[in-house]
Amino acid sequence: MSDKKVIFSGVQPSGELTLGNYLGAIKNWIELQYEYECYYCIVDLHAITVPQVPKDLRRNTLEILAQYIASGIDPEKNTIFIQSHVSEHAELAWVLNCLTYMGELNRMTQFKEKSRKNEANLNAGLFTYPVLMAADILLYQTDLVPVGEDQKQHLELARDIAKRFNNRYSETFKIPEVYISKVGARIMSLQDPLSKMSKSDNNENGYILLKDSPDVIRRKIKRAVTDSLNRVKYCDEQPGIKNLITIYSKLSGDSIEEIEKRYEGQGYAKFKADLAEVVVEGLRPLREKFEDLMKNKDYLEKVYIEGANKAQRVARKTLSKVYRKVGFIQRKY
Ligand code: TYM
Repeated sequence: MSDKKVIFSGVQPSGELTLGNYLGAIKNWIELQYEYECYYCIVDLHAITVPQVPKDLRRNTLEILAQYIASGIDPEKNTIFIQSHVSEHAELAWVLNCLTYMGELNRMTQFKEKSRKNEANLNAGLFTYPVLMAADILLYQTDLVPVGEDQKQHLELARDIAKRFNNRYSETFKIPEVYISKVGARIMSLQDPLSKMSKSDNNENGYILLKDSPDVIRRKIKRAVTDSLNRVKYCDEQPGIKNLITIYSKLSGDSIEEIEKRYEGQGYAKFKADLAEVVVEGLRPLREKFEDLMKNKDYLEKVYIEGANKAQRVARKTLSKVYRKVGFIQRKY
């Protein structure tokens, strides 16, 4: 391993990637990839905590891999892999489950929200989801975890579990830090700017997919919910406009002040039309590269095989240490 600090992050292949995933997480990964030793995972074990159609899960997993690369994550420099290919994730999760309290998991807001939505399928996996996430992170002795705002609580739990293990069995895990960007850590739904943009939203006008065509993007932005104040101002009273300015700023690189100034005294129509073009042009190279990559399944396969091999070497080392510390007899075969 190099002397660089380590990053781990992942996305669930439980649907297609949204602009929220891209701006809240993946865009930051791209900026961090040269400075750190990075592990970017497609967390399919997490995805099955809610029912998935097997063939869709397979397709989404491959598409997310292609979208990582199309977004600019260099597979030569980073380790890109599929979670279920490295069995150490599930193995460490079991050990960590035995160190995590029911009360801690009961407090997780995402569990509370998800269990409300999945009352008919309240499985144990949904409950212990954050423990698997802790295993993901801790296996690689991760320093930094770049995620959107909604994952902050899970990260705090991962830190607590790591500290608890270290206290009980001696220093084993690095305590990871969370990395959340100042702007764009919580991209909101275009239809309900008080809730997060999510691929599981029933209303498809609420989210933009990285795969959406230019016309679909234009239509969704045109329909985005705003307010009647008719001023382009970044403030909490105007959550719809605040969200649109955030998207504009993150994709164009222009500061919020510059954007406010540019649209001073103008209504929403011009702002929305320009924003639509910023999004269309911002995502165009990504979509084109993605389409090319999906035609080259052999290449994608090569990336995930190499990724899993590399990830597993590191993960095995940590897991062996853990097994030894908890008192398992070392495997001799
Ligand atoms: P997932 O698949 O829900 O989301 C992937 C990443 O996208 C971020 N994100 C958002 N950011 C801003 N605005 C939004 N509207 C938005 N929606 C999603 C998420 O914060 C996340 O960073 N549990 C994780 C996956 C995971 C993981 C890990 C992450 C599993 N193991 C280990 C980091 C480290 C999740 O549900 O991601």
